[in-house]
Amino acid sequence: MHHFDYSNGVLCAEDVSLETIAVEVGTPVYVYSSATLERHYRVFCEAVKPHQDHVFYAVKANGNLGVLMTLARLGAGADTVSEGEIRKALAAGIPASKIVFSGVGKTAAELAFAVDAGIYQINVESEGELEALSRIGAARGKRPAIVLRVNPEIGAGGHAKITTGDAANKFGVSFSEAERLYAKASNMPGVSVKGLAAHIGSQVTEFSAYRAAFLKMRGVVENLRKQGHPVERLDLGGGVGIPYEMTHPYEHGTETLDAYGDMIRQVTDGLDIELGFEPGRVIAGNAGILLTKVLYINERADRAFLIVDAGMNDLVRPAMYEAYHEIWPVRQPEPGAKSVAYDVVGPICESGDTFTTSRSLPAMKPGDLIVMKTAGAYGASMSSTYNQRLLVPEVLVKGGDYAVTRPRQTYEELIGLDRKPGWL
Ligand code: LLP
Repeated sequence: MHHFDYSNGVLCAEDVSLETIAVEVGTPVYVYSSATLERHYRVFCEAVKPHQDHVFYAVKANGNLGVLMTLARLGAGADTVSEGEIRKALAAGIPASKIVFSGVGKTAAELAFAVDAGIYQINVESEGELEALSRIGAARGKRPAIVLRVNPEIGAGGHAKITTGDAANKFGVSFSEAERLYAKASNMPGVSVKGLAAHIGSQVTEFSAYRAAFLKMRGVVENLRKQGHPVERLDLGGGVGIPYEMTHPYEHGTETLDAYGDMIRQVTDGLDIELGFEPGRVIAGNAGILLTKVLYINERADRAFLIVDAGMNDLVRPAMYEAYHEIWPVRQPEPGAKSVAYDVVGPICESGDTFTTSRSLPAMKPGDLIVMKTAGAYGASMSSTYNQRLLVPEVLVKGGDYAVTRPRQTYEELIGLDRKPGWL
């Protein structure tokens, strides 16, 4: 199953030519494959059986309505980190009973919104938040279900900026405080404490850190139970890494997820607890590409800049995390075609607007199309209008059909967001 593959020499998303999308929607544009999203969600659920009913897709990875609706149809829940994400999940048809709400800085208004919406679980990350939420719950005569997010002091992840489980990271209550706060929560009038949560980082490819962190969490569950607390839920977060450097043809491996599932079953063996999962990247990452057009080639004596119409405002991962994205030409190169080492850069006025340096690609000319692969997660969701560029559009493909699930912003919309001060 290859959902981004060449057909008659042209790269397609499922059965739709990316050349067609480039002509009809314009570039730059994100293109997502429904079949890939569906497959990854199903493979993940299969891997974590029998806990497949508590898979909460991390909306932050890709919150496009079309993506969320595709997953909602399969029964996915949502892991959210803001009122906007809760609203987006609800709008996509994900019921409140399948929504969890994490984050270190939930405002009182956001907590009240979540309580009123009756979501499945709020992942509380500090004592202050616990007190604020209990006040909000009690004022409404409600006891929202919570789990306490614990910082297991074991971090992991593809980059320091996306590691969350280290003692120095801002996430969760400290490990040594977990039992005290759990006991405190169990006596509070405006919350109903159900269990614990941990999320140690993102783009985790080495499962030994997961194993160590989850065993520590298991220890807390067992201690709390000894103290008489019926700990019913353990939310193990997200973070499963995906291969960014791939060989063609590529199939997202089930091996990684099977190994993840096996590790989970081992560390929770005999614990008799409801497990929850918050996968983002592993569902959406390989289900999306960023399609961009070559504007110019600026050749220097020592290098060639391939200047494309996508910028770091559209895909910030290389600039922000030194992330690697595979780049494929939309026109399949002839066998033995000459290749050139390009620095692929965008139009933004900073040198950080560099997608890659010295990348070997077939010789290009202005007007040619390329794609940045594995851009379905944390691509469009992190895009901005920096340099007053229009927010990048998004397209969802299904078989031979496609829909523009977010049109390109217009200049009227961009300028209309601002208001003139009265004195000018
Ligand atoms: N749960 C929590 C509490 C999280 O903070 C995150 C991600 C997830 C689940 C989903 O993690 P995933 O399965 O997608 O790895 N912008 C960065 C990634 C930031 C991840 C933030 N938290 C990137 O582009 O690599």
